Amino acid sequence: VTPRIMLKNPVSLVSNEMNTLAKNIMALIGSGHPTLNRVTSYYFEAEGKKVRPLLVLLLSRALAEIPLGERDNIKMDLEDVPEDPVYSKPPHLMLLEEPAKNFSPLHVLHGIKPLNPLTKGPEPLPRATFDQERGILPKQRRLAEIVEMIHTASLLHDDVIDHSDTRRGRPSGNIAFTNKMTVLAGDFLLGRATVSISRLRNPEVVELMSNSIANLVEGEFMQLKNTAVDTDLSTIEHGKKELPLDSGKLELKLHEYHVPTGVQYNVSHEKIIETAFEYYLHKTYLKTAALISKSSRSAAILSGARETVIEQCYEFGKNLGICFQLVDDLLDFTIPAKELGKPAGADLELGIATAPVLFAWEADPSLGPLIQRNFSQPGDVERIANAVATYSGVEKTRQLAVGYRDRALENLRNALPESDARSALEFLTNSILTRRK
Ligand code: FPP
Ligand code: MG
Ligand code: MG
Repeated sequence: VTPRIMLKNPVSLVSNEMNTLAKNIMALIGSGHPTLNRVTSYYFEAEGKKVRPLLVLLLSRALAEIPLGERDNIKMDLEDVPEDPVYSKPPHLMLLEEPAKNFSPLHVLHGIKPLNPLTKGPEPLPRATFDQERGILPKQRRLAEIVEMIHTASLLHDDVIDHSDTRRGRPSGNIAFTNKMTVLAGDFLLGRATVSISRLRNPEVVELMSNSIANLVEGEFMQLKNTAVDTDLSTIEHGKKELPLDSGKLELKLHEYHVPTGVQYNVSHEKIIETAFEYYLHKTYLKTAALISKSSRSAAILSGARETVIEQCYEFGKNLGICFQLVDDLLDFTIPAKELGKPAGADLELGIATAPVLFAWEADPSLGPLIQRNFSQPGDVERIANAVATYSGVEKTRQLAVGYRDRALENLRNALPESDARSALEFLTNSILTRRK
């Protein structure tokens, strides 16, 4: 498939919606606690790529080009998002703190006031004023906001798990506010995202989006492999933490977290590599592609599209999401931290074998034990890094990503009529491979 040349800036078609995204999210996540507000707003203050909401909005725009006769009018969800209910009263603590000092710059920028205990809560979104047959539906706009909230919650948690010290060119949440506050802020964002999901009042979409949150956690668990268990056991041995409730962790180590290295299993190297890739790609789907594919599917459902279109949108998100994470995993090898705005080479340091390492392992079976022990011995990281370079692990990963990109482009063409929005989606899909950040 030859990628189409696209001249239009993909954002311009949905710039209104993208410009109000942060402000709308701010209104959804206000709490009565000023410090909580600072932590939950923190990652929204620095400019992120906002790829996920951009995709949802462009896809919604492109879906709107499907003639009404080819959509299910009854299913098309034209309703406005219901008004925000009364929020919880702020704790008495707020009255003691100095709100101006504690509110985030984004709240100030958008003129969102600290919640007054005597008032109702954030303003509801204004009613949509566009022609609903051709435009982005109010619920699709809200969906874009929800996706960014879930993604941001996962980043807050991720930086705690990964011991990162930077994100978007600034100290990460765990550094700026402590692990505890960062985890709680992520939980709060998820809680509010869930409120917004349920208020879409579409059972299928509620199920999809709720599941996408569960998938993120499943993906992250698959990635822990035996490192988590090792960490837990060593802290237990050192008496630093309370004892586990049962010995289930040892079982987990044997059954769930095992990367087959051929030491335990008497199978061919090819089979081992095949299994390792299967595991890695499934993890990648869960950790990154699930949120994108399930929100793409949701956008299609809300548009009243037919089942075949819904299915193609879902596949599009899946292929694009996997492509996106493959590129993320190779940038970890190729781009310095300064440019990434977050730690580089982090996966090797964390003992995580991503696609470039798996390709090196394919070529050099003797890397198995290093991968098994999560590159934990002196010299392991260097040897793996050299092997990745020697066996073109990065280039092979890029080729794998190209395959997913092509399938994503194919899905777009199957699902959507030609339009500016579809071209913008094609452009965005192509630009995943050339991004440096
Ligand atoms: C970034 O990956 C992280 C993710 C894509 C998902 C993280 C998911 C969790 C921490 C589970 C908890 C989920 C929720 C919804 C609270 P990365 O570490 O490879 O990327 P990075 O280089 O940007 O840190
Ligand atoms: Mg990380
Ligand atoms: Mg991570």
